[in-house]
Amino acid sequence: MTTPAEFTRLAAEIAREAGEMLLAKRPARPEVVQTKSSPTDVVTALDRAAEELIRARVREMRPDDAILGEEGGATGEGAVRWIVDPIDGTVNFVYGLPDWAVSIAVEVDGEIVAGVVNVVPRGEVFTASLGGGAWLGGERLRCNTGVSLSGALVATGFGYQVGRRTVQGEVLAKVLPHVRDVRRAGSAAADLCAVAAGRVDAYYERGPQYWDYAAGGLVATEAGARLGGMRGRPVGPDMTLCAAPGLFEELHDLLAGFDPERDE
Ligand code: IPD
Repeated sequence: MTTPAEFTRLAAEIAREAGEMLLAKRPARPEVVQTKSSPTDVVTALDRAAEELIRARVREMRPDDAILGEEGGATGEGAVRWIVDPIDGTVNFVYGLPDWAVSIAVEVDGEIVAGVVNVVPRGEVFTASLGGGAWLGGERLRCNTGVSLSGALVATGFGYQVGRRTVQGEVLAKVLPHVRDVRRAGSAAADLCAVAAGRVDAYYERGPQYWDYAAGGLVATEAGARLGGMRGRPVGPDMTLCAAPGLFEELHDLLAGFDPERDE
């Protein structure tokens, strides 16, 4: 049986290879070849090429596994499923900003056991195995603890639908007076790793898809953070909320007062 640590090693190898390809092939200004749900929701040819590379490597190494990818959708069936975002933070990738990542998670029987987030321009590969901790290279990661809401640096992001963005702006304006400050880096996977590394204290966003938070979510929880949705629901596209226990509940209760899951 393949262990979580072995899945993490394989995922890291593939995420590194995809990252090297993306760095080598990224033109000065990658062209947007498609927009999806809105003009902000962009795809480049390299999103597709990176996902193809990742799929090819998974098929070579583990031909019986299923794959869910942001660009290619769901293929295969089975107990083991790879969750792939070839470029999380595509808008940053297009503009040459440094927060974009190759994100790969592995699920066994519906549970995420391995997560790798390669924040390529920064040369940082975050890894986690279920029960094996979260790591940045040789450094074991622990999220910040004992931080109260008023002293918290909070990361967030915005979905692509215009109506949802309007609400997210309103919610953000209400959160801002209650926290130390807010950051919007542009990659949900990197935001979750930032919680794990103590570079921010918390992250919340309505809208990220499974491939955006699967790997980073394991990195954050293995670093001691709590990951969930609103009102006791699990994390999901309705809400991704992540912070150390204590701060998680404080931020949750603040957000609950502003009904962050409405769309207009
Ligand atoms: C997006 C990024 C962004 C977040 C969006 C995601 P993509 O992923 O993670 O930070 O705010 O919700 O969809 O589209 O660049 O893979």
